[in-house]
Parts: sequence; C-alpha cells; structure tokens
Amino acid sequence: MKLFSSVNDVTNIHQLVSEALAQKKNPFADELLGKHKTLGLIFLNPSLRTRLSTQKAALNLGMQVMVMNLDKEGWALETQDGIIMNGTTVEHIREAAGVMGEYCDIIGFRSFPGLVNREEDYSEEIFSKFVKFCGVPVISLESATRHPLQSLADLITIEELKKTAKPKVVLTWAPHVKPLPQAVANSFAEWMNKTDYDFVITHPEGYNLAPEFVGNAILTHHQDEALAGADFVYVKNWSSYEDYGKILTNDEDWMMTNQKLKLTNNAGVMHCLPVRRGLELSHEILDGPNSLVLNQANNRVWAAQAVLKMCLTQTLSEGEGLTKL
Ligand code: CP
Repeated sequence: MKLFSSVNDVTNIHQLVSEALAQKKNPFADELLGKHKTLGLIFLNPSLRTRLSTQKAALNLGMQVMVMNLDKEGWALETQDGIIMNGTTVEHIREAAGVMGEYCDIIGFRSFPGLVNREEDYSEEIFSKFVKFCGVPVISLESATRHPLQSLADLITIEELKKTAKPKVVLTWAPHVKPLPQAVANSFAEWMNKTDYDFVITHPEGYNLAPEFVGNAILTHHQDEALAGADFVYVKNWSSYEDYGKILTNDEDWMMTNQKLKLTNNAGVMHCLPVRRGLELSHEILDGPNSLVLNQANNRVWAAQAVLKMCLTQTLSEGEGLTKL
C-alpha cells in the first residue's frame, strides 16, 4: 500500500478490520517488521489522538518515529505553483515534502481544509501535492475531506460491539460554535457505505454532505425518526457543504441526550473527539454506560497499526523497498 487516504485505497476492509483486531490481541507480534524503518508524522493542524495513537502503533511495529508540527515549527509553507515567493512564505511544499521523503520510509500527513473555497478544499490540493512530492508511501492523518484512520477505528468499534449482523447505524449532526470540516462525517459515511449495515444520516436542512459521500444512506431531517431502533449513534458537527463552511443553525435540540437515547435500541454513542460537552453531547451520555468514545480512541491504535503493517508488508513484498516509490 503506497497510499492510505480513503476507503477506496483498501482492497478488503473486512480483512483490514480482522488484522487490526489481531494486532489488538497481540500488539507486539510484528515488533521486528518496522526495524530500521522511519515513520514521519507531519501535522499542519493540532492533534491529540491521531498523533499519539499512530506513534504508539509504529513503536509496536518496531519503527522509529519523528513528529513535526510543521505549522508551528517549520518554515512558512507555500503551496501555490508558479508563484514568486516574495511574500511571507519561506519554503515551497515541493522542496519541503521532498526533503521529508529523504528522511522517512513512510509519512503520515494532516492538513485541514480552509473552509473558504469548496472547490479548492475538495480537490485535496495540499494533500495531493504532499503525496506527489514526498515520493514515499503516505498515510492520511486527516485531510480536507476525509479522516480514514478515524473511520477505520469506528468500523472496528462497531464490528467488536455489534449484537446483530446488520446493525442500524445513525450519523447525526450536532451543534457547535465553530465551523468544522465535513471530513469526519464524509469519511464515516464513505466507510459505512462499504458495509451492509442499515445506515441513516440525519441533519438540519442545509447540511447535506457531498453526494459522493452520502452514497446509499437513508437521509432524514427528523432526528427522532432516524434514532428509532438505532444500535449505534455517531454524533458529529460539520459546517455546511452547500453554503460552504457556514454555520446555518445552532439548534440545541440536536444535542444527543439520555432522553433521545430512549428512542434507540440502547445504542452505543460514538464521537471521534475532541467533543464540546453540553453542546455536541450531554455530560450524562459522555459519562454514562452507552458512551463508546474511549473504545473508539483505543481502536485508533489498532487501526493505525493495521494500516502501517499493510504499508510495510505490501510495499516490501512488491520488492520496491520503502525509500522511494
Ligand atoms: N479524532 C481525532 O482525530 O483526534 P485528534 O484531532 O486529537 O487527532
């Protein structure tokens, strides 16, 4: 695997989930696989879970890890091509990515959207340029439109805890004070569409996700209707895709509460974190028995470990080595 940026980069998601669960059972089974290989984790935006879980996964596989918060610690990065760099940017992504590729065998890269220009964000320009110019396998640590390591961890969590073969899974919008990317919701929807679950998305009017992510999901603006009989409820805010990057409502009635939980099939409640308590999710849910947020966070390690293992084994078995594509 040279690129892990979406579910479409995975040949068999069930095999990947099985691999992650095997790694979870025996974290050090492949502790020599990554010996003398270096993982670079490059962040243009903040992170707690992605940074620590991916670092832990790499260490379990015997890799060396270098982390850089490029937005704070690096030179101001230029991403536009053909520009005369006589402004504030100091280093072009062409050279910066290329240099990092010289030091690393695999690179994880995080770059959030600007939420101003939809076309630009959805073209994944910065992520794609990084992949192109670094010249080594790249794992997305969240890009403008997707968060595949999170979605894999979410799928692992559902597979571990589901009580029926075909659970009802609901993705519900929740209020927030800041305009957030659509990436987690897009990605979760994209992965759910690869399963045979009963998948429902609910949100206020104006919050439709891009059609390519909605796929075959059932859509409703009536949250109560969506929650009826749900086995898993994934709570997440996102800003408008249609009126791009805007907050159209902050209706607090959309917050998930214990009262709403009564409509479900005693659902497990999921959130990728960080979460705004009392705004996106009630304290009672987060502190109660139905919360799966720590299960999801735990599974971030095994998701990353399965992907790194696949990256190491497949690239090596292709006989290319990991130093250059
Ligand atoms: N869920 C998630 O990606 O968390 P971080 O932004 O802290 O990495």
